[in-house]
Amino acid sequence: MSSSPRPPSEVAADRVEAAVAARIAPSPDFLARVERIRSELPERVREVARARSSPLVRALVAGSAARGTFLADRLDIDLFLLFPPDLPRDRLREEGLALGRAVLTDPETRYAEHPYLRGRYEGFSVDAVPGFAIADPSHPLSAVDRTPFHQAYLSERETPALVAQVRLAKQFLRGLGVYGSEARTEGFSGYLVELLVLKYGSLRALLSAAHRWRIPARLMDPRDEAPRLPEDIALVLTDPVDPHRNVATALSRRNLGVFVVAAGAYLENPAESWFEVCVPSPLSRAEAVERATRRASHVTVVELPRPDLVDDTLYPQIRKAEGAIADEVRRAGFEVLGSGSAADTVRVVVALEVAHRLRSPVRRRDGPPAGIDRVGEFLAKWSSGDPSVVQGPFVREDGSLGVETRWPEREVEAVLRAGFDRLSLGRNLTPSEPGRAGVRPLSEATDSPALAEALRQVLGKRLPWLDRS
Ligand code: UTP
Ligand code: MN
Repeated sequence: MSSSPRPPSEVAADRVEAAVAARIAPSPDFLARVERIRSELPERVREVARARSSPLVRALVAGSAARGTFLADRLDIDLFLLFPPDLPRDRLREEGLALGRAVLTDPETRYAEHPYLRGRYEGFSVDAVPGFAIADPSHPLSAVDRTPFHQAYLSERETPALVAQVRLAKQFLRGLGVYGSEARTEGFSGYLVELLVLKYGSLRALLSAAHRWRIPARLMDPRDEAPRLPEDIALVLTDPVDPHRNVATALSRRNLGVFVVAAGAYLENPAESWFEVCVPSPLSRAEAVERATRRASHVTVVELPRPDLVDDTLYPQIRKAEGAIADEVRRAGFEVLGSGSAADTVRVVVALEVAHRLRSPVRRRDGPPAGIDRVGEFLAKWSSGDPSVVQGPFVREDGSLGVETRWPEREVEAVLRAGFDRLSLGRNLTPSEPGRAGVRPLSEATDSPALAEALRQVLGKRLPWLDRS
C-alpha cells in the first residue's frame, strides 16, 4: 500500500459512504427473516406441487432477496417457479398461478411477458413468476428464464463487502431517480447494478470510471458485444450468462447522462445528501403558465383517455406519441422548444412548448428543378389564380421552382387537430373516434397529475441535485 496522503475529497467520500452503508444495511434480524423465507417459500411450493401433481421442476427465490443486495424499504421477494421447457404456455401460466395462489395471501395477477402473481408471505411482498427450466441461458424461452443463472453467477462472486457496495450503488441511483428498469423509469436494473459493482469493485471505482463515459458507453470488447443493438442504446454490457443479451437495454441515454454527470459532481463534492431521493416535484399548471409567460413562449397540451394497460406497456407508447406530435408540429413550421409526456390513472398527457403560438402566415412550397417534365404540372397548378397564392410561382436561387401560399390555419392547436388522424401514435393510443383527443393551450388545460409531470419535463429542466440543501 502507498503511504502518500489521500486527497481530502476521498477521505470525505470514505466517511460518507461508510455512514450511508451502515444506515441502509438491513439489520441481522431482518436478514435472518429473509433468509428463512428464502428456503421456506420454495419448500412450501414443492409441497403444494406434489399434492396437485404439478409438473414443477424447480422453485427458488432469486433476485436481490436471494443475495442480500436489496434496499430494505423496497424489498420484493422474487419467487421463480420453473417448469419443463416442453410445457405449453397456457399450462405454464395456469400451473404457475395455481402454485403462487396456494402459497401467497392476497394474490393479484399482474402482466409482463406472461402473467405472474403478486401476493404476500409473512408480511413480505412476493412476486411468483413462472418460467421454463432451461439448460442453456443463451436460448431462453421466456424473458425470466435466465434469472436462475444470474443468481448462480452473482452469488458465486459476491462477497459481503461487494453486497454492501451494491446496496450503496442502488441507493445512489435511487437518489437521482434513475434506479429501476420499468419502462416508466428507463433506469438501471438491479442486475445491471450488481454487474457494474462486480466489474469495478466498489461504488467509488464505478463512479471514477463512469464520470468519463461517453454515450453510448461500451464496456465490452466490441467483439464480445451483443448483436442487434437498438440505435439509441445508452450502455452496452453483455449478460455474462447470455452473449446475445445487452443487460442495459432498458436504460435511456438521458438517465445514463444524469448518472455520468452526477458521478463527477459527487467525486468532487461527496456528501450524504447524494444518497437521498431528490427527484424534482411536478409543476403546477399555474406555475407553468407563469414560466411560459416569462419565456414569452407558448405551451400546448394534448390529452387522451388512458387505455387500460399497465405502465410497462403504456409508457413506450406515450413516448412514441410525444415524438410523433413534436415531429408533426415541427414539420408544420413551428419552432419546438421542448416536449414532455406522462400518464395518470385516467389520462395521458403530452405537453409541447413552441416559440410562438402562431406559425408564419406564409407557406413556402418547393417545386421541381427547372428543365424537368413536372415543371409544366407545377405551373399549371399554381399560375391559374389560386386564391391562396401570395407570391409566385417563381424560380429560386438554386434554379428550382417555388411558390408561396397562405396557410389555412396558423394556431398550433388548430394545426394539431387538423393533422391528428395522420399521426402514428402508439398502438393503443390512437383515439377510437376522431375528436377524443383534447388539444388546448395550457391556459385552458385541465389540471391533473399527468399534466403536472409533463410540464415538469418541459419547463422544470434542471439537474436534480443543484437544489438539494
Ligand atoms: P428485479 O427487477 O426484482 O431485480 O428482478 P433485483 O435484482 O431483484 O433488484 P431489486 O433490488 O428488486 O430492484 C429479479 C431478477 O429477475 C431477472 C434478474 O436476474 C433479476 O435479478 N430479470 C429481471 C431479468 O433477467 N430481466 C429483467 O428484465 C428483469
Ligand atoms: Mn427484486
